[in-house]
Amino acid sequence: MSIYLDNAATSFPKPSTVIEAVEATLRLNAANPGRGGHQLSLQAGRMVMECRETVARFFGIDDASRIAFTANATEAINLGLFGALSPGDRVVTTSMEHNAVVRPLQALSSKGVNVVRVMANADGSVAPAAIREACLPGTRMLVMNHCSNVTGTLQPIEEIGPWCREQGILFMVDAAQSAGIFNIDATEMAIDLLAVPGHKSLLGPTGTGFLFVHSDLVLRPLLYGGTGNFSQSTAQPEEMPERLESGTLNTIGLAGLKAGLEFLESVGLAHVRAHEQELIGMLIGGLQEIEAVTLYGPLGTERHGGALSFNIKNLDPSMLGFRLDREYGICCRTGLHCAPEAHGSIGTLPEGTVRLSPGLFNSVEDIEKTLKAVRAIVSAETGHR
Ligand code: ALA
Repeated sequence: MSIYLDNAATSFPKPSTVIEAVEATLRLNAANPGRGGHQLSLQAGRMVMECRETVARFFGIDDASRIAFTANATEAINLGLFGALSPGDRVVTTSMEHNAVVRPLQALSSKGVNVVRVMANADGSVAPAAIREACLPGTRMLVMNHCSNVTGTLQPIEEIGPWCREQGILFMVDAAQSAGIFNIDATEMAIDLLAVPGHKSLLGPTGTGFLFVHSDLVLRPLLYGGTGNFSQSTAQPEEMPERLESGTLNTIGLAGLKAGLEFLESVGLAHVRAHEQELIGMLIGGLQEIEAVTLYGPLGTERHGGALSFNIKNLDPSMLGFRLDREYGICCRTGLHCAPEAHGSIGTLPEGTVRLSPGLFNSVEDIEKTLKAVRAIVSAETGHR
């Protein structure tokens, strides 16, 4: 049996209710929602609406129509950035971002958007004071992640969001690594654009995600096309969510996402977070005892999400990952994790790190076995522990 510690890439396994919802949709009603007046289409439309309402409830969003479903967080981030920014705009970001933010910003910068980066501290944290300093008058947007996919560092968005709102700066959050672990209230946190994958800690299937768009914002769509309504018009509808949702939705995936959210509601985020903290705490404690290990990110669990990065002296991270997988059946991700700037910030270029990311379905025994495996590899490779 494998030990899956790559939940930062996508969560696995999924709750059985998610699997059942996907299967039932495929078997019983995979009709196209909003595309017909027949019963199955209407029923599929109701399910999509319920999924939207569940997302809204989960993230403190008053109006579910402000949620546009996407295939993943990357699409949601692209939608927010390309939809809101124009040549001449100034956007502030951080040095801890994933390529899902870095690359669209690079493309936008070649079109005349002025991108300013705030450097993180060695543990991956970004000081609110540094952000305030970088957000000069005239800044249009601040975009940053809530939790790093490399170090698990949690950023204080609850402090930064309300400040941005006061300054009239759009606040966009990449919640790829925090949604489904930490409580996110888009209203209280004054988030204007919230990009979330459905397939990570929300426990839905791959191919799901969404962007929340504040009611004051009208985004340019990324895709234009059929929306199932206003069909007489050749222009893209102004109405949300149709404005940003052209083409057939991933009904099957959304049935699974709805089940994932309902599962989390029944378990409670406090439990999810406590479990994650326990496992991350064990990893930090156990790895710190191994002399050859260098740990990155916060060394406590308070501001630590589900991803933990480390290296072993004189051992390439990809070799360690390979050995963990082949000799011990431990699945983790090594290298740069699509976040080279974050690795630059913590000093782990060019080879990156080994990343362990436990999830809700990992046990204390999984972590004990993982620590034992790391100790065995270290002792075989370096002759000391
Ligand atoms: N962004 C995902 C990761 O960090 C895929 O692995």
